[in-house]
Amino acid sequence: MIVGIIGSGTMGSGIAQVAATAGNTVKVFDTRKEALEKSKLALEKILSRLIVKGRITEADKDHIQGNIQYVDSLKSLDNTDLVIEAIVENLDIKQKVFSELESYVSENTIIASNTSSLSIASIAASLQKPERCVGIHFFNPAPLMKLVEVIPAVQTSQGVTQKVVETISDWKKVVALAKDTPGFIVNRVARPFYGESLRIFEEGLADVSTIDKSLKELGGFRMGPFELMDFIGNDVNYTVTETVFTAFYYDPRYKPSLTQKRLSEAGYLGRKSGKGYYNYNNDGKIDSQ
Ligand code: NAI
Repeated sequence: MIVGIIGSGTMGSGIAQVAATAGNTVKVFDTRKEALEKSKLALEKILSRLIVKGRITEADKDHIQGNIQYVDSLKSLDNTDLVIEAIVENLDIKQKVFSELESYVSENTIIASNTSSLSIASIAASLQKPERCVGIHFFNPAPLMKLVEVIPAVQTSQGVTQKVVETISDWKKVVALAKDTPGFIVNRVARPFYGESLRIFEEGLADVSTIDKSLKELGGFRMGPFELMDFIGNDVNYTVTETVFTAFYYDPRYKPSLTQKRLSEAGYLGRKSGKGYYNYNNDGKIDSQ
């Protein structure tokens, strides 16, 4: 299968690795050349680390890297069977990209979005053939997280959903079929996890590391809410909360946090910018609070 990936940021890079590891030919496109370069370098680092850990061989690494092509135009995805979009969480931009992509690909190409919170129906509506559109929602980091939500829109054909469920299962992931509602399953459940933690912090009841430590020790979470928001990116996390809040007609349960909004505006995006709720060193490890 030839898989196209649009957007070579955090998610696109991870999904490309998953698809290439499963033996597919993968074409990765990003509007920014430096993002493609960064993605390539990150993969080199990840695979080298996996060799050191004894998880893959040098030959596996060559095979995975050999399966991926980095391309500088959307049109280069013209011969793909499945395209997964992982660009900025903005409906207008996604719709424009989908509409342009459809003019290049064959009528059988499945076009999927990795959106965290936008309605798949509204993304599908930008296509001439909306029945080919579906949500495929990976979690971060895509190569490690087993769960993938598959979200058919009202327009999606049963055949497309079935094909995508089979493909993602072949990629050794666990599929959760979700309805096209704001935040689907996991991101909806996760909103109060972040939101309540932010409120505890804003009310001055505890600092971020105390809240993180409590949830890790007692709740058994691998990462505390603030570590996780920094890991996801405060810009991405804030936008998802705002979208879910708006889509649920301003239900206060999903109210976004001004603290997070300010961090995002300041460019304190978390691990990817070196600063968020915590400060990070060059290896992406927490330096200080
Ligand atoms: P990111 O900011 O790391 O990467 C986005 C990439 O898309 C950038 O490299 C950017 O240059 C590129 N891009 C922007 N506009 C483009 C266009 N028109 N054509 C081609 N490339 C374009 O973002 P991230 O975190 O990878 O998120 C991508 C999508 O995945 C979003 O929809 C987000 O909601 C979703 N998502 C994010 C998760 C996370 O933990 N970060 C988890 C699951 C889903």
